[in-house]
Amino acid sequence: MEVLWYLTGPDGRYPWRKDGARPLNYAYFQQIARAVDHLGFTGALLATGSHDAWIQGAALIPYTEHFQHLIAAHPPLLSPVLLAKMITTFDQFSNGRLRVNIVNGDARLMAQFGTHLSHDDRYAYTDEFLTVLRGLLRGETVTFKGRFIHVVDAGLPLPPTQAHVPLWFGGSSPAAHEVAAKHIDTYLSWGETPEQAQAKIREVRALAARHGRADAIRFGIRLYVIVRETEKAAWAAAQDLYDHMDEAAVAGAQAYVAGIDSVGQQRMSALHGGRKPKDLRELEIAPNLWSGIGLVRHGPGTALVGSPQQVVQRLQDYRDAGIEVLIASGMPLLEEAYRFAELVLPHLPVQRNAPDGVTSAFTKDRDAAWRASA
Ligand SMILES: Cc1cc2nc3c(=O)[nH]c(=O)nc-3n(C[C@H](O)[C@H](O)[C@H](O)COP(=O)(O)O)c2cc1C
Repeated sequence: MEVLWYLTGPDGRYPWRKDGARPLNYAYFQQIARAVDHLGFTGALLATGSHDAWIQGAALIPYTEHFQHLIAAHPPLLSPVLLAKMITTFDQFSNGRLRVNIVNGDARLMAQFGTHLSHDDRYAYTDEFLTVLRGLLRGETVTFKGRFIHVVDAGLPLPPTQAHVPLWFGGSSPAAHEVAAKHIDTYLSWGETPEQAQAKIREVRALAARHGRADAIRFGIRLYVIVRETEKAAWAAAQDLYDHMDEAAVAGAQAYVAGIDSVGQQRMSALHGGRKPKDLRELEIAPNLWSGIGLVRHGPGTALVGSPQQVVQRLQDYRDAGIEVLIASGMPLLEEAYRFAELVLPHLPVQRNAPDGVTSAFTKDRDAAWRASA
């Protein structure tokens, strides 16, 4: 299993509120990146968000040794040849620690950037884009003329470090599933229930089989985690977040997602229905899976809430459903990375990179302490 953390703003104890959001700057991202690396996460997702994910990721390479940067790219905003060159540069400079997350946004977001493709045309575009990108990354000289993309004699001056740069992807519509089945290595879903995840996995795998890729694709899930020593303390922490979800914040977030053409978002919104019940447990849509976060943010809106044992059990449910990758986060990102890494990560079958340094504990037996650290 691979476990990634999250490295994108906004952040803070209550990032949807002015008084709960934390100032973000380069030094703070360095701290999170160093923590994620030291704690032994497989990597971190840099989504499109507060900062440009590629510049942010590149700037953090010197502060990390092991972790994989999973960096989001919107196909309609870039030439596939330019992205291939960015990939090669990043992969070389990070010594093969790049994964690319192909994302499609939604019509409103894309319009801000000057792109006005319909939902399914965005995926038709992405299909052409990935065809060209894959060819370039294989070292081919590519001439391609499609409906949207026309490149002539394109090629890369240098290869990436990795023979195969992994392409990841999120998108829940039928058009998205078709593209994922054809091109993608790791298909991601926001945190739906294990049953919903399993149904998607079946569908995407069946489509991949048509391209002879049933075993070439694997699956991941993006979840918040609210873990505490006891279940009671975890729900108290969720209650604290809930108490800070004022009416204006909920109304603002729900207005943003109303009428959005993202199927993934529609599926997330359906898990809470856009209204805030008095009792937060009414939003426990499956054991320990809470949809309350979606009330105040678009995109990933669910959290696993519980004791370490419960969180590990629920993750096992996802693994039984076919999930091999977890992208987790908490609020704030820095403190919750430590909490998750100490309470949950040691109980997951993750290949962790041993952090530098030795563990020490207060002990009267100095000899034993010296032996343990030798
Ligand atoms: C784990 C995950 C991460 C995502 N990250 C981004 C992102 O960084 N930027 C973005 O615009 N969309 C992101 N998305 C959204 C999807 O790429 C996609 O645009 C959205 O689900 C709409 O497509 P759909 O209608 O096929 O679901 C993400 C989705 C998932 C599941």
